[in-house]
Amino acid sequence: MVVIKDYDRFLSKRSKARKPSAIRALQPLIALPGMISLGGGLPHPSTFPILDMSFTLTNGDSLTISENEMRRALQYSNTSGLPDLIEWLKQLQIEEHKPKYDFDICIGNGSQDVLSKAFEMLLNEGDSILIEKPAYTGALAFLRPMNLTFVDIETDGNGIIPEKLEEALKNWDESKPRPKAIYTVPIAGNPTGVGVSLERKKRIYELAQEYDFIILEDDPYYYLQFSEQRIPSYFSMDVDGRVLRFDSFSKILSSGIRIGWVSGPKPLVNRIVLHTQAGNLHASGLSQTFALCILRRWGVFGFMEHAKKTAAFYKNKRDIFIESAEKYLNGLAEWNVPTAGMFIWLKLLGIDDSETLIKKKAIEKKVLMVPGFEFFPNNDVTPYVRASYSTATKEEIDEALKRLASLLKDAIASKSQ
Ligand SMILES: Cc1ncc(COP(=O)(O)O)c(C=O)c1O
Ligand SMILES: *[C@@H]1O[C@H](CO)[C@@H](O)[C@H](O)[C@H]1NC(C)=O
Ligand SMILES: *[C@@H]1O[C@H](CO)[C@@H](O)[C@H](O)[C@H]1NC(C)=O
Ligand SMILES: *[C@@H]1O[C@H](CO)[C@@H](O)[C@H](O)[C@H]1NC(C)=O
Repeated sequence: MVVIKDYDRFLSKRSKARKPSAIRALQPLIALPGMISLGGGLPHPSTFPILDMSFTLTNGDSLTISENEMRRALQYSNTSGLPDLIEWLKQLQIEEHKPKYDFDICIGNGSQDVLSKAFEMLLNEGDSILIEKPAYTGALAFLRPMNLTFVDIETDGNGIIPEKLEEALKNWDESKPRPKAIYTVPIAGNPTGVGVSLERKKRIYELAQEYDFIILEDDPYYYLQFSEQRIPSYFSMDVDGRVLRFDSFSKILSSGIRIGWVSGPKPLVNRIVLHTQAGNLHASGLSQTFALCILRRWGVFGFMEHAKKTAAFYKNKRDIFIESAEKYLNGLAEWNVPTAGMFIWLKLLGIDDSETLIKKKAIEKKVLMVPGFEFFPNNDVTPYVRASYSTATKEEIDEALKRLASLLKDAIASKSQ
């Protein structure tokens, strides 16, 4: 255990050059007794035409955002997030992950916002990054234009393979700077639908200590685990301050409200706060207030109950998908049964490259899936495809897999001719 005190070695040139906003620095002075502030830039709240807001939950509960809360929701507020929501989320993190150090949180407009800011904080153009293969396309979309070297680490039915990670680190070409971070979706990897076991997480954390890199734990499916016991997070085992954890309300409350948050060591979260100051100022006050209003009504217990129900919903959809897959795709495709989330990763047998089949022939037959190459950091040719069982009905899933099976049979037949 080596508690990290100085994070300079991890920061990109651009992040290091960021200074706190001059106006925001005045904020504490406004609170001094007798101070007459002509310094701030807050619009006058009496000019906002909105008074309060009421809404109804699907269970019939009526909630109201009071005039007072509404005034705060409509005004500029703290960069890192509404203090009351930050407090609620801190409590959630403490109960769920029992972090071993005094961490900070910054709320973003979705986890994608704070995730992309973390990438920007750590990486210079031309750097290397450790990344699981396959990887979430939304992360790749941000990283690709940065001219990075993707050191892609193979995964299997249990996520990242620690031995492969160790191999890459041991055999490092020392003419290149060593990687400062690994990017991983440890639960229900998008696209694979499977997660990393606790034993693997422990080993990967040890490697992060030994080779001194940051773990970017992108975990929007954490609460959608199908097992009774959730697998502990990297954040929960972090003793050095080398994990940045990304959570999201997108899959449990709403994706449209755009609320996600990063938790981690203060110096790193503070760099993301500085970026927010220079970018979007803060996540939407209305969205944050809306979420806070629901979370206060529920409490952490009610939130967990809702998460459990949501996970059960997806587990049922997974079972429906697997039933149809076994009916039509045996011998034509292979898969690992998803343990969380909404995706399944199919390996098409007898097909070398899924791209034309999925992008052209499947679309002609009116089945939409994502070809595997999109998820490979280095654009490998692959027989994989990603399917989601989230929104299609049982009948639609069954029909789609029937069509896929017929396509695969045709493709294999025409190949052997
Ligand atoms: C792995 C992963 N990370 C991040 C995101 C983005 O989530 P958010 O809506 O919180 O920005 C997604 C959304 O699909 C995702 O699958
Ligand atoms: C919000 O901002 C105020 C003024 O800058 C500061 O005093 C306070 O500590 C901040 N609260 C949180 C939770 O960050
Ligand atoms: C959301 O986050 C992105 C990425 O950081 C940023 O560019 C954008 O301005 C933000 N949008 C809003 C509405 O805050
Ligand atoms: C990308 O990075 C490499 C290695 O650092 C460098 O040689 C090359 O010029 C860079 N390309 C661009 C387009 O920036």
